[in-house]
Order: sequence, then structure tokens, then C-alpha cells
Amino acid sequence: MRILSGIQPTGKPHLGNYFGMMRQAIELQQQGDAYYFIANYHALTTISEAETLRANTQDVALDFLACGLDPEKTAFYRQSDVPQVTELTWILSCLAPMGLLERCHSYKDKIARGLAASHGLFSYPVLMAADILAVQSNVVPVGRDQKQHIEVTRDLAIKFNNQYGEVFTIPEPSILEAGAVVPGLDGQKMSKSYNNTIEIFGTAKAAKKQIMRIVTDSKQVEDPKDPETSTIFALYKLLASPADQEALEARYRAGGMGYGDAKKTLLEAFEAHFGPLRERREALANDPDYVEDVLQSGAARARKLATETLERARQAAGLA
Ligand code: ADP
Ligand code: TRP
Repeated sequence: MRILSGIQPTGKPHLGNYFGMMRQAIELQQQGDAYYFIANYHALTTISEAETLRANTQDVALDFLACGLDPEKTAFYRQSDVPQVTELTWILSCLAPMGLLERCHSYKDKIARGLAASHGLFSYPVLMAADILAVQSNVVPVGRDQKQHIEVTRDLAIKFNNQYGEVFTIPEPSILEAGAVVPGLDGQKMSKSYNNTIEIFGTAKAAKKQIMRIVTDSKQVEDPKDPETSTIFALYKLLASPADQEALEARYRAGGMGYGDAKKTLLEAFEAHFGPLRERREALANDPDYVEDVLQSGAARARKLATETLERARQAAGLA
């Protein structure tokens, strides 16, 4: 089984990114041949300062390695070090119906949020399809908001194969129910663009501040509370063992516990999980040569596969 996923270097990772995509990707490394990359060509659709893009790219590399990406198992690379994907993007673009791309929510959402409507932003799903198809990946771990892009990828791969002969593996998305939509501080989907995130690699102090801002209902300390409608509990479930979840659930239902206490319990679980990862990240930040070596050797592996795939696509389409 071949697994591929990408993450955009567009800011500090939060619990939504971690439980929607990163943790799943880390676990899947054990089950197959994994290719994970930093989607800096994608980020170019929204970041126009070179230094910001460069610094964010380095940050994401540290984030992913600190979270447990194992470079012995996984090819980890910058998307722009595998430029074959851009050539494949063009080939796929010529098969991509306008209507298919016009239906993509992500583009419409970004325009609604005020991003400039560039051609790159519009054709973003075709670049994503090229990432996936270039390495012939079977499985793509993502959060639910990316599902539609995997469907576009499948459509384009099927269309190519029908028109020119079998070249591409048809990929499947892998979406974990537990992390499919992680709620943010205000209860909406956690997202950088809603300013409602809990960053996984901020300081302990910053995490505390963010957790204390989680919006709750106005129940009093003595009132029994419903864990099912509580953002604090939803986040705790992602971090705690089943026994600990049951214990907090019982405290909710019994009454006598204020939301402040529930937030403290959440903060403890957060620190137990991310404290050690934060330390690992600091150590990695002091070894930029190691990180660069990892990215270069990952890129060499990805380029080899992408070059083979591209050659087959070029032959099939009559370009070579
Ligand atoms: P953001 O919305 O903060 O800009 P991205 O769009 O960069 O996040 O998402 C990166 C990855 O993290 C994607 O695979 C996406 O599906 C996942 N992801 C982001 N936010 C969430 C969330 N709240 N719940 C689950 N997965 C998420
Ligand atoms: N579009 C994804 C996001 O915003 C990032 C991404 C780019 C990706 N190429 C990919 C994810 C290929 C999975 C597979 O999160």
C-alpha cells in the first residue's frame, strides 16, 4: 500500500490539523510505503512573501518530524523539490472540466473569505491530483474538508486512464471519524482563518490561554452538564484514554464541576501529549542540517517515482 499526504506551510499547526491529518498520517507510516510532503506550491496561492514561505516551510518540517514522522520509513519532502508534479498538473488540467473545478467548495470558501481569485487558487485541486497521482498513491489521509479534492483526483485519474490507457492508480481518501471535524474555541470547525485554534506547538502558557477561552454555555457549577454538546469534552476525547474520558463524562453528568475545572483537565491532557513533542521540536530546531538532509533524501525518492509516472503519462498522451 502506498500512502501520500501533504500539508500546506501556511501557519502554526493546531489541534484540527493534528487530529484531522497529522496523527493519522503518522500512524499509517507503519502500514505501508509513505510519502508526505510540504505543499509549498499550494501555499504560493495565498503567501506572497518569499521569506514567510521559506520560514513556514522550515517550521512545518519541524512540526511533522516532532510529531513522529519517521524519515527512515517515510519519504518526507518539499513539493517544489519534485517539479515533475507541475508538468503532470498541466496534462491533467487539459482533462479537467471547468464545471468540476467550479463546484469545489474550498475555492468558493477562499474567495468568500476575500482571497484574490487567481488561476492558481482555482486550479489548486488539479495540482493536488498531480501530487497524489505522481506517486501512484492508494490511500490519502486527510481531514473531511479535503474529501472533495480526492474525488476530483479520482475523476481525473479515471478520465485519463479511459482516454489514454491505464497509467494511474485510483486513490481512496482515509478520513478518521474521530478527527474528521475538530471543533475550535467557538465550537465552529477549528481553522486558522476563524481565529479559533489551539496551537500544538505554542508555549504551555499560550495553550493555557487558548483553552481558557473555549466558549461554554451558562450552566452554573452545581448544574449537571451535557458532555455531548461541550467543546471542552469533544477535545478531551481526542486526547484522553477511554477510562479518563469516562471519568470526565461522569463529572459532567453529576454536577458540581465548573467548566473551569473541565478546562484544567483538558489542559493537563494536552500537556501530557504535546509537552514531550514540544521538547523534541526544540531539539530538531537546533539541527537544521539534519532536517535539510531528511528533506533532500525524501525528495530524491519522490522524484524517482514521479519521473517514472510522468514518463508513462507522456508516452500515453503522445507527448513522447
Ligand atoms: P486551516 O483550516 O486551519 O487553514 P488547513 O486547511 O491548512 O487548515 O488544513 C490542513 C489539514 O488539516 C487538512 O488535511 C485538513 O483536512 C485538516 N484540518 C484542518 N482543520 C481541521 C479540523 N478542524 N478538523 C479536522 N481536520 C482539519
Ligand atoms: N490541499 C491540502 C490542504 O489544504 C494540502 C495538500 C496538497 C494535499 N496536496 C495534497 C493533501 C495531496 C493530500 C494530498 O490541506
